[in-house]
Parts: sequence; structure tokens; C-alpha cells
Amino acid sequence: MRKILLTSAIFVSAFFCGAAPVLAQSSIEYAQDKKVFLLHAGEQSYAFGVNERGELQSIFWGAQLKSIADIPPAKVGPDVASFDGSTTTTPQEYPGWGSVLYTEPAIKATFEDGNRDLVLHYVSHKIEGDELTVELKDISLPFVVQLHYRVYPEQGIIARWSVIENLGTKFVNLEDAASAAWTLPHGEGYEAHWLTGHWAAEWQQQSAALVPGSIVIESRRGSTSHQANPWFEIDRPHETTEESGPAWFGELGWSGSWRISFDTSAMQQTRITGGYNTFDFAYKLSGGQSLKTPIFYAGYTSKGRGEVSRLLAHFQQAEIFPGGDKAKLRPVLYNSWEATEFNVDEAGQIALAEKAASIGAERFVIDDGWFGQRKVDNAGLGDWYVNQQKFPHGLKPVIDRVHSLGMDFGIWVEPEMVNPDSDLYRKHPEWAMNFPGRPRTEERNQLLLNLARKDVADYVYSFLDKLVSENDIAFLKWDYNRNWAEPGWDAVPVDEQKKIYVAYVDNLYDILSRLRAKHPKLEIESCSGGGGRVDLGILRYTDEVWPSDNTDALDRLVLQDGFTRAYSSGAMMAWVTDVPNFLDNRTVPLKFRYLVAMNGSLGIGGNLNHWTDAEMQESKTLVAYYKSIRQTVQRGDLYRLMTPEENSASSTEYVSRDGSQAVVFAYLHSQRYGTPYPTLHLRGLQPDARYRIKTIDDKLKLSSETVSGDYLMHEGLTFNLTGDYDSTSITLERVP
Ligand code: GLA
Repeated sequence: MRKILLTSAIFVSAFFCGAAPVLAQSSIEYAQDKKVFLLHAGEQSYAFGVNERGELQSIFWGAQLKSIADIPPAKVGPDVASFDGSTTTTPQEYPGWGSVLYTEPAIKATFEDGNRDLVLHYVSHKIEGDELTVELKDISLPFVVQLHYRVYPEQGIIARWSVIENLGTKFVNLEDAASAAWTLPHGEGYEAHWLTGHWAAEWQQQSAALVPGSIVIESRRGSTSHQANPWFEIDRPHETTEESGPAWFGELGWSGSWRISFDTSAMQQTRITGGYNTFDFAYKLSGGQSLKTPIFYAGYTSKGRGEVSRLLAHFQQAEIFPGGDKAKLRPVLYNSWEATEFNVDEAGQIALAEKAASIGAERFVIDDGWFGQRKVDNAGLGDWYVNQQKFPHGLKPVIDRVHSLGMDFGIWVEPEMVNPDSDLYRKHPEWAMNFPGRPRTEERNQLLLNLARKDVADYVYSFLDKLVSENDIAFLKWDYNRNWAEPGWDAVPVDEQKKIYVAYVDNLYDILSRLRAKHPKLEIESCSGGGGRVDLGILRYTDEVWPSDNTDALDRLVLQDGFTRAYSSGAMMAWVTDVPNFLDNRTVPLKFRYLVAMNGSLGIGGNLNHWTDAEMQESKTLVAYYKSIRQTVQRGDLYRLMTPEENSASSTEYVSRDGSQAVVFAYLHSQRYGTPYPTLHLRGLQPDARYRIKTIDDKLKLSSETVSGDYLMHEGLTFNLTGDYDSTSITLERVP
């Protein structure tokens, strides 16, 4: 049964009874006389209203507006000559493609009778706590859209999604179904920032002025992609710096094909529309059926680009990551992939586990190669039984040894893939994603299983459940090493087949959520040949992500700087691996590699069999140091003291949420002309508090044991770093 949405009677009467103090604290206000909504989230206010035509229209997005009395009612835009009709000049909250809409629609549909005109008008709304639902309906057809707004007052974030419902008896074919459209304050001079990349080079920061025209960032690949990430930030470059000025930002929670467009009209109106990718998209709704879109999160700050990343990190920690604020800190992990690649066996893995434990690792992970007939990457995917030649006694002896060494055990899986050379493919060739009778394009010798199929999803869930139930596995590294090709789904009628884009990802989330519910202690990492599947959809079900297969420390500084623009460093795995690095052939000292990897969740991925006693001893000391600061790094506030992109030196600082500890990392990539290392002015400290500084080496000369926050932020600290790849770290403990 469909629920009828009603205007919140309690709220409205309170408004007119003059209960202003109570209402001012509410996260959602509604003024019935002018039909205006005002949402408050942290520093952010967001207003929209019902205009004279009955459309829901954006009014304001930006700094906090304390009083709804200040907000004017929504007024439709003008007709500009006979070419830009009022529908086009009116920034709607969720425009249907119909009437004279030439700007980006949020929704486009073809109705069974051939009509393609969709005009949505306000019907009703409902306020429940921090959630507002506004119902829109087509002007004549039984077709409704519920716009959902969830306000996170403490985090400064507003989440939006829509539920599209066909209330008639005839079908409707959706060709576009965005999560939300956001309208920037009218005017020019904006700059957009986003993240692009490719394998081993994810998280590259891009910027461009928003001038009339469009910029589209997207993935058409079936998953989030290395090529672009569904995150954006928009600011005013003449006003906005790392530490101050206005910035608007957003992030999508979807792990399938997605699209975000920034559209700026010649009349200086910029709008951001995002959600499912419209390319090759179709979703048929029969009578009574509905579609819920992914969530589009957004926020605003006046405190600059750095604050954007801090707000997002806190929001993710509190509201997105499994376990929220109660989630345990990421353990120090050892993974044997770069050491042994596919050549895993019982004795070899036990030997590595013993070495890993001796330097302080808390989790031991066997990567690819342990299952089926997996010797290289051309066979075995799909056959999730333990390879008897490599592990004649199963996994138990390795797991028992890992436990006796005080670590927990993790293992690599790639559940959505199949090698044509596998028992699974020989038995079920129809399970591979394909158009029957057409070529099946392999990448890395593998095909995708069509997870949209229920039988495939059931198979994937049951083998994972069996693996985790039969072995004491604390952690899965869930990999996904290719993108889609030939996305056919012939098990359903032709006009339903494009639902694969939605059904595949829904089933993926369902498998992850069922697995976690059945095995509450299980932790999962999202990996996709590095950082190809990092987004707020997958992060609801995974505890951490692998940001890149690139483990070169110098490259990582840049990748990590980009990653942390959009995601919490606490979710970012970072390994110390061998040199010369396999990718860049660069040799960087062990200490520099550790101090770079300590900016996230520390892992070790080198071949410990080749490490000298001195390197093992140094590792032990540095791993112990990391454990003393990881709470601050994983959950604290990140300040970029010097960014690595164009500098020959860089520095990061983390301040714990309670302000009791700060950690500074300083890196000199390559010294030129004997130039001394720049003085670092710390941030985020309490000016009148005193801090005791702890060093890990002799790179900082100190004249007194404790220093004031004021001094550290204004006078700063001078480090004696010289040459190539010099580095250091200090901690500051606030003196009680
Ligand atoms: C991907 C991952 C790597 C490793 C290999 C194993 O490339 O990103 O970390 O797990 O697969 O095949």
C-alpha cells in the first residue's frame, strides 16, 4: 500500500504559534505561508520552495541562514525572448524533461502511449526528525517522485535521493533518473575540482573554471572506476584557499556506472546533477513498481578546501563506515602479494607470517593464488576451493600458526569474476555477462559473472559464506580486476535487460550486507586493481579500501593527497613495499616509505625474507610508533601543511578529535640549491595550550620541552631535512 504524504501538522502549527526558539534548533523548517523549506546542517543552509506554477524550486545553498523569515518565496524564472522559456530559466529541485526544459533534466521517461512529456508539481510533504520527504506528481499522469532529504546536523551534510513510482497500470520506461540536482548561488567565478586517473595513477586532482557549458565526470564501466571518482568540490578561486573561503561539495553513494554534470548557463546559473549514468540507461517500471535512486551527499563550508575533506572524513566515520564511531581501528596488516605473487604455499606463507609478527603486524593476509588451479592469472577464478598442491592440509595450519603468532587472518577473493579456464565456466558459461552469440571480451583473461542474475548472486553468497564459516577468517580483500564489456542479460525480457546496471550493484550490496550480518566480526576491503571501486556506496559495507596498486612512496604522496580530498585516511590502506619499486624502479629509504604509509592504515607488503636484520629492527620501531599515533591519523583532522603536487617537499598534520595529540609528517622529496626545508606552521592546535613534542630522530632542534599552540602555529617548526627522500615525524601531546 502506498503511503500518502501529509504536511507536518505539528510542525506547521508550532511555526504559527511562534515557537521560534524550538524551531530554530530544528534541522528542517517549513514556512507554510510562502511554501518554503529551510534545512540546516552544520554551517550549511539549504532552501527551496514551491513556485507559482507548483514546481519545487531551489532558492539557496550556502552559509548558515538563521531565520526562515529571511528566505523569499520561490519565484519562477523569466521568459528570455522566445528562446529560453521560464521552465528553462527556473532552477527546479528535480526537473522532469517536459515543457520547454533545455537544461539538464533529473528525470526523463517514455510512457506506454508514447508520451515523453513529464512535468512534476508539488503535492505534499512530510517531516520526520531529520528527514523530509516531498512528493511530486506529474500534472496529469499517475506518476510520482518522492524527493528524500536527510539532514545530518552535526556533520554538516545533506543526503538526497528519490523514489520514482509508477502508480498507473501501464508501463513507464525511465531513461534518466538522477539522485538529485543542486543549484549553486547565482553568479560566475566558480571553479570545479574533481579526481581522475587510471590504473596505478588514481586520485589525480583536476580543476577547471565553470564557464557557460558543461563538464561531465562519469563512469560507463559498470563500476566506480579508476578514471573518475564520484566526488566534487566547487569554490571561488579568488576567495577560497586550503584553510578559508566558500566551498560546495558532494559525493555519490553508488558503485555502478554513474554521472555527475556541472552545467553552467549563459545566464550564470550553475547546477550539479548526479546519479546513475544516463548512457545506455533504461529502467522499465510496470504499474505499481518503483525505483529508489542512489544517495547524493552534499555540503558547504566557509572554511576552505581543507575543511571539505575534514567534514567528509568525519561524516564517513560517523555515518557511512560499518560500525560508525564504534568501529575498531584498522590493524597493522601484512599482505604477501608483492612478496610471493601467485606462488603461495603453506611453508612459505607461515615463514612470512612469523617475520610479519616479529615486526608488529596484527593481521596476515594471503592474496591471490590460493584457490582452484590458479598458477597465474589465466585460470581458477570461480573455483573457490583451496588448491591442494599448495595447501595439502587446507588453510587450517596457516591460520592456526597466524593465530598463535597473535595475528588474525585474511584472504583475497575476487567473487564477481570467472576465468574461462575454470570448472565454474565450463559448467555455467551462461553466467558470464554477455550478449548471446556475440564475442566475450576478456581482460586479464577473465569475464564478469552477471551478478544481476539471482542464481549467480546466490552462488557468490554461498561460496563466501562457506569459506568464512569453515575457516577462521577475519578479513576479506574483495578484488575486482576489470570493467564491464558486452553487458547483456538475456535471462530477462529484452525491455528489462538494461536493468543490469542497477540490479548488478543492488545484488552486490545485498551479498555484502548478508555476509556481514551472518559474520558480524568479518571485515572487508574493497579493491579493484587498486582504487577502481571507492565510493560511499561500497563503503557502507567495507571497512577499508585499497587506493592504488602503485606503492611507490613518492607517487603515493600525490595519490594520498587526492584520495583524502574525498575519503577518510582511516579507510585508506597504505603498504610499505620493496625497492626498487616495481612500477617506477625508484629506490626510497625504508623510513620514508613507512612515514608515507603511516598517513593511512599501515600495511607491509614487502618480501620480508629479503629484509636485513637492521631493516627488520627499524620496521619494529616504526610499526610501534605508528600504533602510538594511529588513532589520530585514522580518526583525526587532516591539515595539509604543504601539498606534494608541485613542491619538492610536503607535509601533513593530523590532530586528534579531542585535541590531545597532533602528529606531523615532513618529507623532503629532493633538495635543490641547498635550500633549507621550509618552516612548518602547524594548524588546528589550541593557541593557549602547551604541547610536549616527541621526536623519532634528531631532525628537529628544540630549545624547550614544551611549546605553546600559538608558537607552533605562528612561528612554526624548522626541520633539518636534507638531500633526497629525507623524512621525519613528530608527535605533540597536549600538556594537561
Ligand atoms: C589486483 C590487486 C592487487 C593484487 C592482485 C592479485 O591487482 O589490486 O593488490 O591483489 O590483484 O591478482
